[in-house]
Amino acid sequence: MAIVLEARDGKLSPTRALINTTTVLLSTYWLPILLLSILLRALYNRYFSPLRKYPGPLLASCSRLWKVLSTARGQTHLDHIRLHRQYGPIVRIAPNEISISSPEAARTLLSAGKRFFKTPFYSVFPPPENPDIFTETREDVHALKKRVANVPYSMAAMQQLSPFIDDTIELLASKIDQHITSSGNGIFDLGDYLHYFAFDVLGEVAFSRSFGFLEQGKDVDNAIRTIDNSQTYNGIVGQVPELDFLLRRNPLWRVVPWLSTKNALITRMALEEMGRREPFRKETAVLKTEGDGDDGRQDLMASLILGHLKDPERFGVGDVFAVAHGAIFAGSDSTASTMQSFFYHVLSSPSTYQSILHEISSAVAAGTIPATGNLTWNQAQNLPYLQACLKEAMRVRPAVGLNITRLVPPEGAELDGVFFPGGTSVAANGWVLHRDKATFGQDADEWRPERWLENEEEARRMERYMFQFGGGSHLCIGRNLALLEINKVVPRLLRDYRFELAHPGRELKANASFFVVQSGLEAFVRRA
Ligand code: HEM
Repeated sequence: MAIVLEARDGKLSPTRALINTTTVLLSTYWLPILLLSILLRALYNRYFSPLRKYPGPLLASCSRLWKVLSTARGQTHLDHIRLHRQYGPIVRIAPNEISISSPEAARTLLSAGKRFFKTPFYSVFPPPENPDIFTETREDVHALKKRVANVPYSMAAMQQLSPFIDDTIELLASKIDQHITSSGNGIFDLGDYLHYFAFDVLGEVAFSRSFGFLEQGKDVDNAIRTIDNSQTYNGIVGQVPELDFLLRRNPLWRVVPWLSTKNALITRMALEEMGRREPFRKETAVLKTEGDGDDGRQDLMASLILGHLKDPERFGVGDVFAVAHGAIFAGSDSTASTMQSFFYHVLSSPSTYQSILHEISSAVAAGTIPATGNLTWNQAQNLPYLQACLKEAMRVRPAVGLNITRLVPPEGAELDGVFFPGGTSVAANGWVLHRDKATFGQDADEWRPERWLENEEEARRMERYMFQFGGGSHLCIGRNLALLEINKVVPRLLRDYRFELAHPGRELKANASFFVVQSGLEAFVRRA
């Protein structure tokens, strides 16, 4: 039916009159109208939303601003611990979002097949035009890509990557030796060097290229800072993903040269490496690069190219780039943060440090670990107390500081006996979940690695409620690599050197962008 805008006698029709009046009102009073609608929306969110019964900060019940501010401060992990202490197991953190503290509920939320899908938070992480395993929010597409990408990340494939890790450990050790020789009792920034180590390992593993952080002993080209700035943006804007269209996805953004990351060291290297191996063929994928010896090593990009050649429809050229490049973002700060937490806690507790040193020297004496050189994965498993410390570090200071958030399926769902309506965002924060007293004991807030060794059955039960690597279909794909790397470097450093915190009692500086990026782990170091 056509709308009549003008009456036959030339006078304005009622419809036209209404449109005119509305236009005049909107153009004159747009600001008060906008403010009024924001206010009405906030009042609706606060008093009429189905989530109104859940407690939480007033601002959070009205708007997403609370989440934005908490993320911008970089303290989401600590804010969430405080929130749950104050308000209980279910806290409203945004008009349509609640945070849970029950590890049982988190298990359901993250388990595969329950249809709690990723929220648009992830779509902010670049590259939006070609999402990788981490950023892909379409579950079916994610499953296809992950099937290909899982192959190079299996534990068997990881053994092939060991030589890359071994070389990087040698370089780290030589840098520590140099420090001892040149500056004697000077302070060594162990945290920074662990950070450089994690990045350099990934450069080698992903592209057979060293980023040169350890070699130069600095953040070359500010590459780490660039990644961290990008993660800070993703974390904050991810709370209001629509904003990304006004900001980074805005075509204007691309004309501002200093905002583009195309020329950032890591992206540049990934693009160069792709270029060197194109057009993709089996022989060019596994090209002999500087690092390639006769030890059968094959980098991640090569494995991904082979995956692409097997199934080019499902795993395109863009996916090879996105997954290899994404590995640097997902795997570097996370692994560095975990190692920093480990050393921070071990060195802060004299009894822990003594026990670990005793375990290592006994293992050397018994021949279960070598007296010199690098350890294998299996040898590191012969150090149960060290393994308990690693678990405890990942429990009290998990590397992901922001929430892992999923959407309740449209028909609604129960979590730990509580029903939530379809479309509700449900957030789980590892720092909160890992402090659950019913699961980890009354002393869950304390560092006490012995809890993992007291009772095998109890340890297995606690392990089921550890979320440092996420869970379900989105379980971290790089966990084998991260654990292999950590299990090789940590005992080697503890066996060959003696560390003493330069500022005992001082907290690490921690900024949660997505991962908890830490600094301030400074120590005196000498040879053992
Ligand atoms: C100790 C080190 C690491 C920790 C603590 C860690 C933690 C996590 C967590 C918690 C998730 C789930 C995120 C979510 O669901 O929102 C995740 C996913 C992921 N991680 Fe890791 N990660 C580590 C190392 C790595 C490494 C070394 C790589 C790659 C080289 C990697 C690649 C990924 C990818 C691709 C995903 C997405 C998986 C999916 O959604 O299917 N991570 N990681």
